[in-house]
Amino acid sequence: MNKAVEVKNVVKVYGGVVRALNGVDLDVDEGSVYALLGPNGAGKTTLIRVMTTQLRPNEGYVKVFGYDVVNQASKVRELIGYVPQEVSLWSDLTGYENLLIYAKIYGIPKDVRKRVVEEVLDFMGLKEAANRLVRTYSGGMIRRLEIASAVMVKPKLMVLDEPTIGLDPSARKSVWERIISCKKEFGVTVFFATHYMDEADKYADRISLMSSGKIITSGTPEELKALAGGDKVLLKVSNVSETLSTLSKLNYVVVSKVNNGEVEFIVNRSAEALPKVLKELMSNGVEVDEIKIHEASLDEVFIKLTGRSALQEVGRIKEVISARRMIRRGG
Ligand SMILES: Nc1ncnc2c1ncn2[C@@H]1O[C@H](COP(=O)(O)OP(=O)(O)OP(=O)(O)O)[C@@H](O)[C@H]1O
Ligand SMILES: [Mg+2]
Repeated sequence: MNKAVEVKNVVKVYGGVVRALNGVDLDVDEGSVYALLGPNGAGKTTLIRVMTTQLRPNEGYVKVFGYDVVNQASKVRELIGYVPQEVSLWSDLTGYENLLIYAKIYGIPKDVRKRVVEEVLDFMGLKEAANRLVRTYSGGMIRRLEIASAVMVKPKLMVLDEPTIGLDPSARKSVWERIISCKKEFGVTVFFATHYMDEADKYADRISLMSSGKIITSGTPEELKALAGGDKVLLKVSNVSETLSTLSKLNYVVVSKVNNGEVEFIVNRSAEALPKVLKELMSNGVEVDEIKIHEASLDEVFIKLTGRSALQEVGRIKEVISARRMIRRGG
């Protein structure tokens, strides 16, 4: 598998004091979707700025498709479509006008510029809204327009910093549908930073958990959730002792609690394991009256490994959310 991004022992210190990145290593496979998950101040944006050639690392290196971000910065910039955490549009221009400016900046030849802009607006589901001022757009439309500006040049790597920050669930979904269609349509590799656990879980092939400038652990969503210790399943059963005897023969199940008529156990990937467990119980004459499942979440893993949640919306994140709200009010 070719590497789209290689990050090796990267250190970034701001102003000689703030160690925002403290020895970061990660590899992104070509064609994959990779999530960088971490709370406020973890260093996600700093890593993205190094990756996109905006900041030089103090130590270590980053390569994008084999090109060094310091020594071959202009080559790296040709390969990347970047959607920053901050608002990157003019609210008093239309969506069409915004993209026309970006098309000029990216050096798209004049004779094809209009066609490229129209195509990308259509692709991002913004055709109808193309001639409206951006300040009348919803948060999801604004984000899709920003993504449109980044995909106009058909990048090999799309880098998105908090792509759905502050959006409601349906807008988040519409943004993700477009990102996924970029991947399907032209095979782009996607690297995104987020503090939304569910998004990393749902859309990423691989996730790195980041805290205080370090990668705590990396893996597939399933591998990481297994670190939480598995899913908890509670069964209300007709016969507790027969249930216990059946479960004791299943090596992938660990009984954690027994109450009056109830048995609680821990199992990895309950969605796959539970049908097998129920079949065993039924064949031993046990009737199951009620099932409660508590699936392990990435947030539990994060809390377990770092002692804190990645979900807080404080500091910078809060500022970005309010800036995004302001643009919609025309402020
Ligand atoms: N220009 C800067 N000068 C000094 N310190 C900075 C600068 N930019 C970021 N920092 C500090 O570096 C650390 C990492 O910040 P960074 O913005 O990379 O985190 P983040 O994970 O993107 O956070 P958020 O979720 O709030 O966007 C924080 O302690 C932050 O205060
Ligand atoms: Mg950030």
